[in-house]
Amino acid sequence: MIKLKGIVATLVTVSALGSGAVIAEEVEKVIEARQSFMQLYSFNLGLVGEMAKGKTEYDAEIAANAAQNLLALAKMNTGPMWPQGSSKADTGLEEVTRALPEIWTTYPKIAEKQDDLTTALETFATVAGKDLASLRGGMKAVGDGCKGCHEDFRAKKEDK
Ligand code: HEC
Repeated sequence: MIKLKGIVATLVTVSALGSGAVIAEEVEKVIEARQSFMQLYSFNLGLVGEMAKGKTEYDAEIAANAAQNLLALAKMNTGPMWPQGSSKADTGLEEVTRALPEIWTTYPKIAEKQDDLTTALETFATVAGKDLASLRGGMKAVGDGCKGCHEDFRAKKEDK
């Protein structure tokens, strides 16, 4: 299942709108959208992560819901949030985006990374609401799913 299939969409539609200022504005809008999307992953993962670490008490319902949310997010088609030409290098928006050009130049590798995360979350969604030990058991694969993509396709924080 390739969920980022819209990724090869280009900025042609954006250019058609006219001035460079409009293009920059549109690019910043898609960047904001995909970063907000990532924040939703982060928020939900945080809920279960805190439980796994014992920082908050295990709550089966909250855990199961967070896992379901993560899976639902992973199944979203976010292609339009990743138009070609919107990487850090291509846009020159060094302070704004950490998206590396490899997202597009090595496509569909990123879609495979997305599939890895989805697979991990499918399992996680079946165990997170069982008990704390099961939740902990499923966490690593999910974290690895996020990390696996960030390692290859997101610039390190220092050079955001
Ligand atoms: C298929 C690739 C991929 C997967 C899987 C992925 N990410 Fe990301 N993530 C990215 C990319 C690329 C960026 C940089 C986006 C940008 O700056 O335009 C990013 C950025 C982020 C950010 C920073 C957002 C911001 O406000 O700048 C957070 C937080 C994040 N990811 C969390 C997660 C979590 C948590 C998971 C797993 C549940 C995850 N990501 C899975 C590719 C991925």
